[in-house]
Amino acid sequence: MPPSLRWLLLLLGLGILAAAAAIGVQQWQRQTQRQDLAVAHTSGDPEAGRAALYRYGCGGCHRISGIPGARGRVGPALDGLAQRAYIAGRLPNEPEDLIRWIRNPPGVDPQTAMPELGVEAADARDIAAYLYTLSPGWN
Ligand code: HEC
Repeated sequence: MPPSLRWLLLLLGLGILAAAAAIGVQQWQRQTQRQDLAVAHTSGDPEAGRAALYRYGCGGCHRISGIPGARGRVGPALDGLAQRAYIAGRLPNEPEDLIRWIRNPPGVDPQTAMPELGVEAADARDIAAYLYTLSPGWN
C-alpha cells in the first residue's frame, strides 16, 4: 500500500472515531439533561422510583426501560413519557397530574383498565421522576 494511502486511511479512521465520540458525548449530555429536568419538575428521586416501579409490579402491564422483567403489553410502553402531550389521553402531561394518575387511575376515569395499586404519595413522586428520565428509544 502506498504511504499516502496509508495516511488517508488513518485520517479517515480518526475522523470516524471522532464522530463516534461526539455522538456518545451528545447522548450522554441529553440523558443528563433529561435527568436534571425530571428531578427539577417532580422533586422526586429517579433511583428510588426505579425500585418502586419494580416493587409495585408496574412491569406486569408496561414495558419500561431499566426495570427488570418490565415487558407487559396490557398498557402502553412508558418510555418517552416526557414527550407525550397527555397522560393516558386524559390528563395534561404535568408532574402533579402524572402523580395523581399513578396513585389512582380510576379516580381520573372509572372506565380505565389500569387499577389503583395503593401507591404511596412519595413513591408516586419518585416513579414520576424516573419515568420522565426515559428517552423515547425505539418503542
Ligand atoms: C393491570 C395492568 C396495569 C398495571 C399493573 C399498571 N398499569 Fe399503568 N396502565 C395500564 C393501562 C391499561 C393503561 C392505559 C390506561 C388508559 O388509557 O385508560 C395504563 C396507563 C398508564 C400510564 C399512562 C401512559 C400514557 O402513555 O399516557 C402511566 C404513566 C402508567 N400507566 C403508569 C403505571 C405505573 C407507574 C404502574 C405501577 C405503579 C402501573 N402503570 C401499573 C395498565 C396497568
